[in-house]
Amino acid sequence: PTFAKKIAGAPKAELHIHIEGSLEPELIFKLAKRNGVKLAYDSIEALRAAYAFTDLQSFLDIYYAGATVLLTEEDFYEMTAAYVERALADHVVHAEIFFDPQTHTERGVSIATAVAGIERALAVAERRGLTSRLILCFLRHLSEEDALTTFEAALPVFDEYAHRLVGVGLDSSERGHPPSKFERVFAKARARGLKTVAHAGEEGPPSYVYEALDLLEVDRIDHGVRSIEDPALVARLAETRVPLTVCPLSNLKLRVFDDMKQHTLKTLLSHGVAVTINSDDPAYFGGYVNANYLSAAEALDLTDAEVHTILRNGFEASFVPADERAASI
Ligand code: ADE
Ligand code: ZN
Repeated sequence: PTFAKKIAGAPKAELHIHIEGSLEPELIFKLAKRNGVKLAYDSIEALRAAYAFTDLQSFLDIYYAGATVLLTEEDFYEMTAAYVERALADHVVHAEIFFDPQTHTERGVSIATAVAGIERALAVAERRGLTSRLILCFLRHLSEEDALTTFEAALPVFDEYAHRLVGVGLDSSERGHPPSKFERVFAKARARGLKTVAHAGEEGPPSYVYEALDLLEVDRIDHGVRSIEDPALVARLAETRVPLTVCPLSNLKLRVFDDMKQHTLKTLLSHGVAVTINSDDPAYFGGYVNANYLSAAEALDLTDAEVHTILRNGFEASFVPADERAASI
């Protein structure tokens, strides 16, 4: 098979996917109609046309608006079931999936409702060869008090879904909201034995990556592509093998890089950093995980060996030991 076909058919682990970012416009409109939610766009085409982002915030505004159609357990089930189909089509055999509870609790939708719907779809997926875990993300544009309240409210859900819900993360508007703001809530999560990750060095500076490592003691950095600006940080990431969950199409759509050829993942990889490739918010950024691999491979002339290393990094960086996953490479 051609190089592209080999990449597409290879078993993959996906470690950076916001489930709310998998909501396709068609499903947004279907759920809006079912739930009587008013949208700011009057057609699927008009909504899709609004997906012309200039930076992270311009995306987040539309992403949070899209999530307002999610009200019932069934809505979360359908959204997740749709992602599962896309993931299986791309030969994803293991996924570690983010969700943003504060986006939903603010609208009166409980954490338990969201997780019950997501879990139902993931349990079905497991029988079809897709293992998964779930990671609860705090919205960094909100206060640490709000994150602490969310964490306390989620404790029974962490207990009930301990087999699935294994960690916490940090996402939303990065600039002006450094990891240091969330030191206490991350300490509480770690004390409960939860895994921790944080978006850092997407739009924010390398100092935010240092903070995520030193103050939040994260197990992985989400994005982290701006780490390249600090050689000592690159050396540390390589030495410690703290993985980066890189999302090439996201970085392009949110103008972290003007051109895929400028993406720093190949250079990071060449320095020994544990780079992985993921889709972030695939319904908004023009492609699921295979499209991300193919786009990066083509623009950066990734070799067979480099692609193989990235694929392997995905499994090695996962929170599930090899013998508990569906498959590996
Ligand atoms: N929430 C969903 N996608 C995100 C991203 N790429 N960065 C920060 N927050 C997000
Ligand atoms: Zn993300």
